[in-house]
Amino acid sequence: MGSENLYKLSWEVYQLLGQSAIADMFPEGDELHAASQRQAEFLIGILGGPPLYMQKHGHPRMRARHLPFPIDEAARQEWLRCFRTALGDGAAFGLSPSHSRDLMTWLEAFSGWMVNKEG
Ligand code: HEM
Repeated sequence: MGSENLYKLSWEVYQLLGQSAIADMFPEGDELHAASQRQAEFLIGILGGPPLYMQKHGHPRMRARHLPFPIDEAARQEWLRCFRTALGDGAAFGLSPSHSRDLMTWLEAFSGWMVNKEG
């Protein structure tokens, strides 16, 4: 799908997160945009592209990086909702419907590791 599409997708996701039930966890304005770029860089590495996130920020330690935020099951579901809404069938980002489903399936599993609080 290409790096450009992942930056675009992550920015769509973060704009939705910025208006979501968990918006208070996320920064605003330019910082929100910068945060979306970190997420895109992480996803680029995970999806087989260059390890940009690791080069800039070191080992991902994703669960540890999320510990400052109280993430319960409801927050996880809200995060996934934003991602699912932004992604749609994937066409806007050069992804086939089946690859979009694969990406969501992976995020559903991976996001479970970020839950650090009982709902
Ligand atoms: C379970 C639901 C999740 C919630 C509520 C959540 C929330 C957050 C928050 C509040 C931040 C800090 C602000 C920011 O930099 O964006 C963050 C950072 C980040 N999240 Fe998540 N997140 C979730 C799941 C995920 C998943 C599944 C991934 C993997 C694709 C991910 C990847 C990242 C990355 C790469 C960062 C940037 C870390 C850094 O370098 O500062 N998050 N997340």
